[in-house]
Amino acid sequence: MHIRIEGLTHVYAPRTPAERVALRGINLKFAPGERVGILGPTGSGKSTLIQHIAGLLKPTAGQVLLDGIPAHASTAEARARRRQVGLAFQYPEQQIFEATVFREVAFGPRNLRLDEAEVARRVRWALEMVGMNPEEYGERVPFALSGGEMRRVVLASVLAMRPRVLILDEPTAGLDPQGREDLLARLDAWQRETGATLMVVSHHLDETARLVDRVIVLWEGRVVADGPARALLGDGCLWRSLGLVPPPEVTLLEALRQAGWPLSPDCWPREELAREIVRAWRERAGSGKAGSVGLFG
Ligand SMILES: Nc1ncnc2c1ncn2[C@@H]1O[C@H](COP(=O)(O)OP(=O)(O)O)[C@@H](O)[C@H]1O
Ligand SMILES: [Mg+2]
Repeated sequence: MHIRIEGLTHVYAPRTPAERVALRGINLKFAPGERVGILGPTGSGKSTLIQHIAGLLKPTAGQVLLDGIPAHASTAEARARRRQVGLAFQYPEQQIFEATVFREVAFGPRNLRLDEAEVARRVRWALEMVGMNPEEYGERVPFALSGGEMRRVVLASVLAMRPRVLILDEPTAGLDPQGREDLLARLDAWQRETGATLMVVSHHLDETARLVDRVIVLWEGRVVADGPARALLGDGCLWRSLGLVPPPEVTLLEALRQAGWPLSPDCWPREELAREIVRAWRERAGSGKAGSVGLFG
């Protein structure tokens, strides 16, 4: 699906004392199959932006076009586009309402009026996709699950709709490191298999780096950076401007570059940085200077 955002502005509670301008004239374009990270500090407008892409909010000004159709319109063709945009909210408890995990994941496919055998197939497939055994979890009560499990159920519900655009708001919050790795690997495989557009909202820059090719940074409702993930995420200034501590490999890369090592600023992730360091070391060794290579001089 082609997504185009033109002059999108969103004001919450306009003309009241609680007025908040959340988005200020956003312009963006996404081609089908793009893998995009949306980053920015808390309150920068990330959740508001993606709710607009899913057609859940009405723009104060500007518009979001899904294959040329305004996302928020009440026409049948707009509804058909919205159904193809799957959004997993930041807070899963806002999205769960059925009494069992099976019914929760089946809700969307049943609304598509698929027959029950197909619904059951989709539910099983979607639960397996998020690493949940359908036999073990199907009859459990969603609200009695842990936060991380609820998040998986919501993701399964969204996947069961076979979206062409999948948007995840802070998908790995509440997951342990192993669960996080596991989920990212599954999402990665799913995207490659389906060619869907993937958007991941996160303030974990590391996990974003694993999953996306393009990064958009929001700041106070504006897009302040938009570019290749590798270059942006290897940039210590970007991390610090977001109020985050860069990961050790970014700090190391910066220190080595400052000391004159011929390293590319976008060697990322860490495996690649390690290879680059070895290459630079060998080059220096070849020119007889290896002995004088020091981090600080
Ligand atoms: N439902 C709402 N009512 C009023 N203000 C809101 C609402 N949701 C978000 N905001 C405000 O809009 C701004 C952007 O919020 P949000 O899109 O949630 O940012 P992020 O997801 O980046 O943390 C913030 O100032 C926030 O307080
Ligand atoms: Mg948010």
